[in-house]
Amino acid sequence: MIKIQVNGRNHELSQDLASTPLLWVLRDKLKLKGTKFGCGKGLCGACTVHFNGNPTRACQLPLSAASGGQVRTIEGLSENGDHPLQKAWIEEDVPQCGYCQPGQLMSAAALLASGAPVDDASIRAAMSGNICRCGTYGRIVRAIKRAAD
Ligand code: FES
Repeated sequence: MIKIQVNGRNHELSQDLASTPLLWVLRDKLKLKGTKFGCGKGLCGACTVHFNGNPTRACQLPLSAASGGQVRTIEGLSENGDHPLQKAWIEEDVPQCGYCQPGQLMSAAALLASGAPVDDASIRAAMSGNICRCGTYGRIVRAIKRAAD
C-alpha cells in the first residue's frame, strides 16, 4: 500500500496506482475535484497543490513519489473558505471563469506561508507558473497584497 496524508486525513492506496499522477489520485480516487487538470505537462499550474508544504504540480508527481508525504489541496486550505486569500479573492472579485483559481490560490498560499516579504517581485516569482486565460493577473496581485496586509 502507498500511504499519503491529504488535508490531514490518512489514506492507503493500492500499489497499482504507483505511477498514477497525484492529480488523478486526488480527483478520481479521493473525489477531491478542486484540483484541476489543465495541460498535464507541468506548464499551466492548474493542478497546483502543496506537497510537504511546497507548491507542487500534481500532474507531474507520481503517487509513488508522494508516498509518506503530506498533501494539501484547495479543499484543505481552510475550514470554511475563510483563508485570508479566499476572502481577498472575493473582495477583489478575482475569478472570471474560475478554472485556474484553485491552483492560483495554492501558489499564493505557499508564498504567504513562506514568510517571505510580499511585494511585486515575490508575487511575480511565486505566481509565474500559474496561467490564467481570462487574464485576472492584476486582480490576483491585488488580492495577494490585500491578504498579506
Ligand atoms: Fe499540471 Fe497544467 S495540469 S501544470
